[in-house]
Amino acid sequence: MHQTEFAKRRKRLMQMMGKDSIAIVPAAPATIRNRDVEYRYRPDSDFYYLTGFAEPEAVAVIIPKRKHGEYILFCRERDPAMEIWVGPRAGLEGARKTFGADDAFPISDIDDILPGLLENRSRVYYTMGANNNYDQHVINWVNQIREKSRSGVHTPGEFVALDHLLHDMRLFKSPGEIAVMRKAAKIAAQAHIRAMQVCHPGKTENEIEAEILHHFRVNHCHEAYPSIVGGGANGCILHYIDNNAALRDGDLLLIDAGAEKDYYASDITRTFPVNGKFSKEQKAVYEVVLQAQHAAIEQVKPGNHWNDPHDAAVKSLTKGLVKLGLLKGEVRKLIKDNAYRRYYMHRTGHWLGMDVHDVGDYKVGDAWRVLEPGMTLTIEPGIYIPAGSKKVAKKWWNIGIRIEDDVLVTKNGCEVLTKDVPKSVGEIEAIMATASSQRM
Ligand code: GLY
Ligand code: MN
Ligand code: MN
Repeated sequence: MHQTEFAKRRKRLMQMMGKDSIAIVPAAPATIRNRDVEYRYRPDSDFYYLTGFAEPEAVAVIIPKRKHGEYILFCRERDPAMEIWVGPRAGLEGARKTFGADDAFPISDIDDILPGLLENRSRVYYTMGANNNYDQHVINWVNQIREKSRSGVHTPGEFVALDHLLHDMRLFKSPGEIAVMRKAAKIAAQAHIRAMQVCHPGKTENEIEAEILHHFRVNHCHEAYPSIVGGGANGCILHYIDNNAALRDGDLLLIDAGAEKDYYASDITRTFPVNGKFSKEQKAVYEVVLQAQHAAIEQVKPGNHWNDPHDAAVKSLTKGLVKLGLLKGEVRKLIKDNAYRRYYMHRTGHWLGMDVHDVGDYKVGDAWRVLEPGMTLTIEPGIYIPAGSKKVAKKWWNIGIRIEDDVLVTKNGCEVLTKDVPKSVGEIEAIMATASSQRM
């Protein structure tokens, strides 16, 4: 993403904030994995969205119409000794020259400088509760100003959650963001195809996961979330991430894996037979899920509301489950009674962007949000029938199927960003058959 895009975002935010206001946006802290080992650092999405700055120990301060600079970045100073251990830092000069800050100060000086920036500002935009470290800092800074009120200094009177403005901005993806999301989708799609090609009975879930991770890393991506690679019964565990079991002939394999490219996520699920050929029952359930997914995707268009795809999926799944004999009764009544929930216990999707479950309101007041061009979401219906399901014939047990794509709302309808991974029974079986014959 070019620096001009980050500058544009700050400008838009400032227009919405109005004058006499200030926004304080802290970077995410580094987190310990165990003892003295840290997790790989991943910037907070809000902070990165506004700054393009990927170092910890930083705070962005945005002050519309401030004469001596509207964008101030507190960050770490250069430190040649530390940089030998953990790599280069932008430092104060880099913050200004590379990252477009009007002014930059050492993060160690923030307690001395920030209260002065709050003086005579009436509104403070800050997200309380997201970063405990900084909540107390902000309260202390404001209290310092309050103490000076007798000398005529004006204390901010209004605290506003920054996320209201920022998350609505993030909900609408710019052409630059869409280009990155297309890349994330493409790389994840290739990884899923790779998984289909290498899968056969005798392989293990972890071996398949390794293929996916390998493809992500050689393409400069990380996982957008821990991959789910679940064979047979494990495909019915919604958040399964052990990914350690052997893959058995006759079982299905459910893979939910997405790549994160330049801090933008993709999120794909495909389900296919370990041995390359769907059984009669697997195919029957698969076709029901696929049809529901098509029905839901058809509802992704401007003017429809957020819940239309979910309603379409539920209707289609319920009809399909009745046809298979897995639900009994009248479709309309079954939908009203939420009978499908025994097999389909999650919703049909979520916003997608810098966070896999991205920000943005799903409702405005009491009404579902209307879909508009530039929004990106997932469509991911499924059916899960764990072993032991009461009053369900054994032949259906351990069938867990989800089909998930990433969809962009366009002017005239939608674009499926993850369309490169096949999902029809015929296409999947053909890919796996070709791969199998090449292995011989
Ligand atoms: N992979 C997380 C989800 O599908 O929501
Ligand atoms: Mn998802
Ligand atoms: Mn997913």
